[in-house]
Amino acid sequence: MHHPREVVVDPSISPAFYWSSMEQALVSGRIPGKFHYDSPAKTLAWMELHKAFSPAIQDPGTRNLYSTAFATVCAQFRGQESDFLSLCPGSASKEVTLLDALNKVSTVCGIKVLEFSLPLLLDSMEEFAKLNAFVRPRGFLGDFLETKRTSLDAADSSTERPVLASLFGIVHNFPHAEVFPHLARFFRSSEQVLVGINGVASRGTADHLDSIRVQYDNPPTTRWVSRFLIELGLDPGVGKFQTVVRHSSNDMEPSSISIQFVFAETVRLGWLDQQLVFPSGTAWDLFTTYRYHLPSLEHQFKSHGFRVKRDWVSASGEEIIVWIEKS
Ligand SMILES: C[S@@+](CC[C@H](N)C(=O)[O-])C[C@H]1O[C@@H](n2cnc3c(N)ncnc32)[C@H](O)[C@@H]1O
Repeated sequence: MHHPREVVVDPSISPAFYWSSMEQALVSGRIPGKFHYDSPAKTLAWMELHKAFSPAIQDPGTRNLYSTAFATVCAQFRGQESDFLSLCPGSASKEVTLLDALNKVSTVCGIKVLEFSLPLLLDSMEEFAKLNAFVRPRGFLGDFLETKRTSLDAADSSTERPVLASLFGIVHNFPHAEVFPHLARFFRSSEQVLVGINGVASRGTADHLDSIRVQYDNPPTTRWVSRFLIELGLDPGVGKFQTVVRHSSNDMEPSSISIQFVFAETVRLGWLDQQLVFPSGTAWDLFTTYRYHLPSLEHQFKSHGFRVKRDWVSASGEEIIVWIEKS
């Protein structure tokens, strides 16, 4: 059965908000991850990268880890009706497997999807609809960090059902001081939330971080982040790319790896009704991933009011899955 797709556009994606947050990004030199997914060309470049390198697709150990986590969490919904809330699903490769596992034990009555990228939102809704012929997925186009939970739940009578929420592959792209307080505001008590986060081994963190630099410094990744420059009207040839590792000085906070773009010449960028000037040597953090080790991640969740019910860590320590519930 093919349903028309219903998408609500959240105010966090209004043109005014979009342009002011883009301007802030350009002036501060800290480019939020969302600006790497907001056009069809960026999305296609990301999907190519994701298919080729995602550990949950390429590494059988990580795939099994996700399947084990999904089976464990879904068992809690056995014999009940449920709602599925898929946050930032991208191409939904993990999320489809999770919904499939939930379908096997529970009657899924509502599906909501929140994404910043319209192509990825539509694709993932389509994938979810294929699995649940009688449920029409509701889509929300918005910035997760800015979206109020009430906008997702407005005009919805289903909020009494148990909810399984997924948030894979994205928490580590937000600054921790912003994302954890947002999670605490966003989720409701008793909702079961499954989060997948990029990790780093607890021991030898510095060496491990150095060894994973290569994941950010390779032609497909450079092609992907270059789209941001190209769509701004900048030639990537005006600067060079480099990776920067920042080690956390506090054991309970994450370290980070950024792909930086350093201008090799002064660049003037026409911007709405003004000109932004970037002197030679200006460095933009074009894409940043925070890397957590398990104790620091558990600390962040606990100090923001979540109970960690269970976690799973891949052999490399690079993929962490955490099952949380607001206490
Ligand atoms: C790395 S992909 C992860 C996709 C998928 N969940 C997975 O684990 O394979 C990150 C996804 O989050 C979306 N995203 C990034 N920033 C966002 C934001 N601020 N609000 C909503 N979605 C965002 C992107 O469009 C992209 O689809």
